[in-house]
Amino acid sequence: MQGRLTFSMIKPDAVSANHVGAIIAMIEKSGFIIKAMSMTHLNEAEAQSFYQVHADRPFYKELCSFIASGPVVTMVLEKDNAVADLRKLMGTTNPLDAAEGTIRKIFAKSIDENVIHGSDADETAAVEIAFFFSGRNII
Ligand code: RTP
Ligand code: MG
Repeated sequence: MQGRLTFSMIKPDAVSANHVGAIIAMIEKSGFIIKAMSMTHLNEAEAQSFYQVHADRPFYKELCSFIASGPVVTMVLEKDNAVADLRKLMGTTNPLDAAEGTIRKIFAKSIDENVIHGSDADETAAVEIAFFFSGRNII
């Protein structure tokens, strides 16, 4: 059975564009329950640690600078098939390829500034949830 929890982060581009409420509304309308939520501003080292799996990729440095460039909204979301369903709602990494009605299609400007992160597997979700939230802060 697929897990019921995933982790999501509304990235600095969407926060600075005042799209937080609209994005959360889409997430809630899609049936996700918000189990935890917080706003934070990662420093470069924290962003590098969060995206450690991409350390060897050419876009790693730029990605971490972007994520550390302003505040983000972090969330634990619950739903059946949470990981896959959130990624479907987000749309593809490159918003130019994203399906109509997806969060990245509606709000994202480029592959580098693509508005939202969602965990890519149940195992990753568990690691990413633990990175940001203690059990005490998950409802
Ligand atoms: P995310 O982790 O942020 O939710 O995005 P994702 O799963 O859709 O994409 P991923 O492969 O995990 O890449 C993480 C972020 O790195 C940037 N990226 N740039 N230029 C490129 O080819 C490239 N590929 C990835 C994107 O900003 C992506 O969100
Ligand atoms: Mg990813």
